Amino acid sequence: MTWKTLDDMDLTGKTVLTRVDINVPMENGVVTDSTRIDRIVPTVQEIIKRGGKPVLLAHFGRPKGVVVPEMSLKHVVPALTQAMGVPVSFAEDCIGLPAKKAVAALRAGEVLLLENTRFHEAETKNDRAFAASLAALGDIYCNDAFSAAHRAHGSTEGIAQLLPSCAGRLMQAELEALEAALSKPSRPVVAVVGGAKVSSKLDLLGNLVEKVEFLIIGGGMANTFLAAKGLNVGTSLCERDLAETAREIMTKAKNSGCEVVLPKDIVVAQEFKENAPHAILAVEDCPDVGMILDAGPESTKAIINVFEHCSTLIWNGPLGAFEIAPFDTATNAAAAKAAELTRAGSLISVAGGGDTVAALNKSDAAKGFSYISTAGGAFLEWMEGKTLPGVAALDA
Ligand code: 3PG
Ligand code: MG
Repeated sequence: MTWKTLDDMDLTGKTVLTRVDINVPMENGVVTDSTRIDRIVPTVQEIIKRGGKPVLLAHFGRPKGVVVPEMSLKHVVPALTQAMGVPVSFAEDCIGLPAKKAVAALRAGEVLLLENTRFHEAETKNDRAFAASLAALGDIYCNDAFSAAHRAHGSTEGIAQLLPSCAGRLMQAELEALEAALSKPSRPVVAVVGGAKVSSKLDLLGNLVEKVEFLIIGGGMANTFLAAKGLNVGTSLCERDLAETAREIMTKAKNSGCEVVLPKDIVVAQEFKENAPHAILAVEDCPDVGMILDAGPESTKAIINVFEHCSTLIWNGPLGAFEIAPFDTATNAAAAKAAELTRAGSLISVAGGGDTVAALNKSDAAKGFSYISTAGGAFLEWMEGKTLPGVAALDA
């Protein structure tokens, strides 16, 4: 598919309805991670520089169609103002009179943020009249919210049908990075898929085995695969009812020429606790009372060896219980190697989805990756090979 970028649009004097994802974590009214805000700054500043007036559309949390005061986007205004470096005004509603008035009052060089689109049920229903009310506020629609593009909502999909539309710079960067990693990658390609549950990533695994040369499985979901191969995994997190599914994925991988890499050795503890006493054992030797919390050093060596032979890496999910030391060891070592190979120019590395960025940030390795997606669910759905409605709606 093709999409327009800001390069294709004349922004002079135009009100640019810009969909952003500023669904940022917040504690006691303070934004604790401003990554998503920081990443939309180039788009917003470019719109201003080229004579347009940016009006930001966004959701915050899941208020389910009612006004939830804690989910008001007004709480994000201070962080947004700081990141943009220009005045940010705020409208108490994203449609109707408050929105119209605020748009009319918006001056060149400033930004307007509209209240949480999800305060209207019509947003998540992708109601056409609601999308039309949004569209009536501006001249151009710019979608810079890749991380919300898996939602077919009024502000992500419906509105794109009603106005001249383009991708913002962040959306553009996400799409370019993801295409480079999976649509037309430099081969061989290795995918790392970790995290707790196979059940949440079945479609993803099924899609990947047909697209990559190596699939490294880590974290809790590796236990499900080990158990499916008949190995004892003790008291580990494991979805035993998915044994047959795991075997099917392994067969599909074999038929597609994809090598599935499972742990050779494991780090086993008796309890899920920081610095719990632990032992490094061969994968065959997990005791009945043991819990697998990380991949062992031999496994890490094997993973690094695969990285060294690949040109592209796509990473989703940690390899172990990365929240508690020392069970973040395999994740940190593999991530550091990926960063090193990327810096040396031999690997293109892309990571995203849920816990992944937190896991990689912990080790500082994220800075060395070619691209870190801001997306959680959207990244996963994209890895599953699904069409994202917010992206599809930009198709020119
Ligand atoms: C996210 O935080 O992943 C996006 O903002 C999408 O949010 P949602 O899962 O509530 O649609
Ligand atoms: Mg989500």
